[in-house]
Amino acid sequence: MEPTKTLAAWQQEYAKVESALAAADVEKTADLPKLEEVRVRFLGRKGELTELLKSLKDLPLDDRKACGPKGNALKAAFEAKLSAAKSRLEDAADADAFRKDAIDLTLPALRPPRGRLHPLTTTLGRIADIFRRLGYSWAEGPQVEDEFHNFDALNMPGDHPARDTQDTFYLQDLPRLLRTHTSNVQIRAMEAGKPPIRIVCPGRVFRHEQIDATHSAVFHQVEGLVIDRSLGFADLKGHLQTFLESLLGSSTKTRFRPSYFPFTEPSTEVDVKCFFCPGTGCPACKHTGWIEILGAGVVHPKVLRNVGWDPETWSGFAFGIGVERVAMLVHGVRDLRDFYTNDLRFLRQFDEDLV
Ligand code: DAH
Repeated sequence: MEPTKTLAAWQQEYAKVESALAAADVEKTADLPKLEEVRVRFLGRKGELTELLKSLKDLPLDDRKACGPKGNALKAAFEAKLSAAKSRLEDAADADAFRKDAIDLTLPALRPPRGRLHPLTTTLGRIADIFRRLGYSWAEGPQVEDEFHNFDALNMPGDHPARDTQDTFYLQDLPRLLRTHTSNVQIRAMEAGKPPIRIVCPGRVFRHEQIDATHSAVFHQVEGLVIDRSLGFADLKGHLQTFLESLLGSSTKTRFRPSYFPFTEPSTEVDVKCFFCPGTGCPACKHTGWIEILGAGVVHPKVLRNVGWDPETWSGFAFGIGVERVAMLVHGVRDLRDFYTNDLRFLRQFDEDLV
């Protein structure tokens, strides 16, 4: 093939491409797509450098020999710059992505949501702790009960007017009821054991009550029963006074008011000075200045006889504490219903109780 290009013409084209390459300034290319554009511009199928190298074949043979290495060296230098620039840009992109995805270990961690104990549970726990220290053990009894254990054995026979004060839920097809108090456990514990006895029994009780700020159809009591030789009202008072002072503080004002329960004689109800008003009366204390939190008394001889124990040898005292009443006093809760509605805004206030 005859040469169609002169050495001078090729050298001129070479100089043009060389200066265009210098002007393209590969080292400073800002991103990978731009770098690719530059590569295609010079080394693509119709790229400026490609064309220059292709046109070597149009030179006379001797010139081709001299110019070939020159053209290839230009290409090699350009390719080296391209690949250096490519690594630089890829490293920068990696570092960028890493920075975006990186975990900042100095940020405060997210707190996982934490469960907490219900205020009635912690109140029950406090009551139990105090009695444990006084040497009481824990007992439990059934919530579905018969009339004998809930009423008769406690000296409340069928026609006894005291039954009317505890509106009872009876089961439909069985001679059973939902216990109206935890006093049934007194009988069950005496039937199952031998004197002496010193127990507390926590539990749910049920009454057919109109529900309001201080009444619920389901609530909780802690029953206590102590039987030994020659126990009397003074012992009862000592135990309960110690309990109330441990629970509410030694400056808490309490009053033992004479009362009546068929299963104790004498009987008392214990009131605590109202925490919501300065004793002047408010809805929480039904305008009396006092809040009743437990009933108690010396175990009636008939109750002992009902389980076959001799009242000449054995005596004792019993009490029933309203757990909701205590929790209301301790936490300043005015409406009993707050304990049952599971409103987290209410329950979260008792965070500090989780021990
Ligand atoms: N069971 C009674 C009630 O629910 C409370 C009570 C009073 C329990 C006197 C006792 C007691 O053990 O001795 O109202």
